[in-house]
Amino acid sequence: MTNILITGGAGFIGSHVVRLFVNKYPNYNIFNLDSLTYAGNLENLRDIEDTDNYHFIKADIRDSQKMLSVFKENNIDGIIHLAAESHVDRSIENPTIFVETNVLGTVNLLNAARHHWNGKFDNKLFYHVSTDEVYGSLGETGFFLETTPYDPKSPYSSSKASSDHFVRAYENTYKMPVKISNCSNNYGSFQFPEKLIPLCINNIKNGKPLPIYGKGENIRDWLFVEDHATAIDEIFHNGKLGDTYNIGGLNEWTNIDLVKLLCNTCDELLGNEIGSSQKLITYVTDRAGHDMRYAIDASKLTSELNWKPSVNFEQGLKKTVEWYFNNTDWLENVTSGNYLKYYEKHYNNR
Ligand code: NAD
Ligand code: TYD
Repeated sequence: MTNILITGGAGFIGSHVVRLFVNKYPNYNIFNLDSLTYAGNLENLRDIEDTDNYHFIKADIRDSQKMLSVFKENNIDGIIHLAAESHVDRSIENPTIFVETNVLGTVNLLNAARHHWNGKFDNKLFYHVSTDEVYGSLGETGFFLETTPYDPKSPYSSSKASSDHFVRAYENTYKMPVKISNCSNNYGSFQFPEKLIPLCINNIKNGKPLPIYGKGENIRDWLFVEDHATAIDEIFHNGKLGDTYNIGGLNEWTNIDLVKLLCNTCDELLGNEIGSSQKLITYVTDRAGHDMRYAIDASKLTSELNWKPSVNFEQGLKKTVEWYFNNTDWLENVTSGNYLKYYEKHYNNR
């Protein structure tokens, strides 16, 4: 494969995947396709945007004709599909856009790949990046395995589950070479501050309340985003065709314990009395239909592909907090909306 399309590359995880591929594989042409929704920010890729093997395409995966022409014009061999609406709270507010982008958008890309590859699948790959939320919610014990039946419970997870089913249907029906990975919650640099960790870092910095849904007892399994990117690299190149891989770091935290650790980490770096930020913790109305616990069994990935996370949670969280504290311009641009002007400024005259 030479011409690789990465969708959603201006987003949180996508930008880490694009950076890794652009730097690690100079012989690949990397096409980052993104429509730049509120979650897409080209400042995330400022450090590699002038690299020869990097190309940006501003396009919407809901546009089926455009997807066909992108595959044709750039002779795409492989796709890593990350573009999606990704926030559960937004999916509760407006489920329809999740169906349009996550389901229809994925089908548009599958169709474009199918037509462009036209049954000649040698050295071709459709890799779909998905979430552990498709498996639903766990009780106190057990883990999500690749064989766990799908049982999505939010509009977001239902749309991702649906798109996974379409990817498998194209494999079964048209024999398209596909891979899927389902990953746990990610944290790290460049995450939009509507998600728990960057939202709390930003609020601690500004002395604002830290909203904890319900009793804060819900459990998430957190993985450093750069480790997700290396797992995607491994699976893309060495994973078995047609297989699913779960990705996670065996790192479960209740929301309240996580936010307390985050307070202490921020306090240490800000030179505050350790624990003093915990006074900002504010319990608020629970999320509707809030999944109780996610936990990934990633033993297939670790044993088959030898992948393992590069950092433990304390190290990853400290790196993350340091990044947000050292990149106040990025955070200010994102919270003020200024980042939306970056595309016009940097790309319109090229
Ligand atoms: P994100 O919201 O930060 O980024 C999504 C990107 O997709 C943005 O750049 C946005 O502009 C782009 N996009 C949205 N709609 C589009 C459209 N119609 N056409 C083209 N581009 C569009 O999301 P993220 O957190 O980086 O997640 C990326 C992928 O990984 C998603 O598919 C998500 O389901 C999956 N995932 C996320 C997590 C997590 O913890 N964030 C965990 C597991 C899996
Ligand atoms: P989030 O980062 O939105 O990821 P997801 O819903 O995909 O797991 O939320 C992580 C957890 O934190 C989830 O249990 C909801 C909770 N949460 C809060 O308690 N307060 C908040 O302000 C947010 C955004 C999330």
